[in-house]
Amino acid sequence: MPSIRVFENTAQLHQAFAHKSIRLLRIGEKKVCLARHGQAFFAFEHLCPHQMHPLSEAQITAFGEVVCPLHAYRFHLQTGSEANQKCRDLKTFEVEIRQEGVFINLY
Ligand code: FES
Repeated sequence: MPSIRVFENTAQLHQAFAHKSIRLLRIGEKKVCLARHGQAFFAFEHLCPHQMHPLSEAQITAFGEVVCPLHAYRFHLQTGSEANQKCRDLKTFEVEIRQEGVFINLY
């Protein structure tokens, strides 16, 4: 799978996201969450690996975890691992900020 450009530049990206916000992006047939934590951006699968609740409704903690609203499982934004290893890891995607724009690598 290719790298997909999701924003034209970082100014657009920063404008679209408040700190600790999550947005759902549709990339072709695929739905991906993009989240901001501080100055960093993280992309991950839309549905929780536990029972498929949409993570676009999740919260981001001060510690850089995404917390599913249904059963409060906590996934590390960088690694995707669940804090208590209660289910499989959240699938994460690389976010690349280049001069030509902001890309998500869907590999
Ligand atoms: S569905 Fe996400 S924690 Fe259960």
